[in-house]
Amino acid sequence: MKKVIEKEIHSIDEGIKCCIKCRLCESRKNAVPGEGPVPCDLFILGEAPGSMEDRLGKPFIGMSGKFLEKMLADIGMTREQIYITSSVKCRPPKNRPPKDDELRICKENWLNKQISLINPKIIILLGKTALKQMMGISESLMDCHGRMPDHDGRKYLVTFHPAAAMRFPKIRQEMEKDFRKLKSLI
Ligand code: URA
Repeated sequence: MKKVIEKEIHSIDEGIKCCIKCRLCESRKNAVPGEGPVPCDLFILGEAPGSMEDRLGKPFIGMSGKFLEKMLADIGMTREQIYITSSVKCRPPKNRPPKDDELRICKENWLNKQISLINPKIIILLGKTALKQMMGISESLMDCHGRMPDHDGRKYLVTFHPAAAMRFPKIRQEMEKDFRKLKSLI
């Protein structure tokens, strides 16, 4: 079964790499499908690739990625234990937030398929864009981080994006608390 899922994920990756379904394909260098074991109990969803990710085609390899790895290390985990991807697979120009139609197109064509094949038990939503992408809501993260709602038959953890936690010590503290909750659950 694992081999079949790996093959299907590989074919999704290939589809993402040559996707021209929205305007983000015009400015990207490389689409960034995601990486990690498949299937996998944990799935991290970010916002969008940044410049390093765009250059190398891998998720979370810039400063946010290093910070995320540190947060995971603090709860005794490594990135290799988790499937990691973003809400859209191509870098938006000047790192602007993805637009609603870009989110919708990427979800319908790729993200939903990734989730159903990888079949995670918990999806960790990093930041407002990931929350909107999966739950369809735009709530302040200060109000809703740390929640672990069930949605469409899966459990989610709502937390901050590492880019915000890196800049603001208070957000970092809150994100650390959220990750400790995650640890207690797995
Ligand atoms: N931020 C994201 O949301 N995804 C990445 O891959 C890198 C930074």
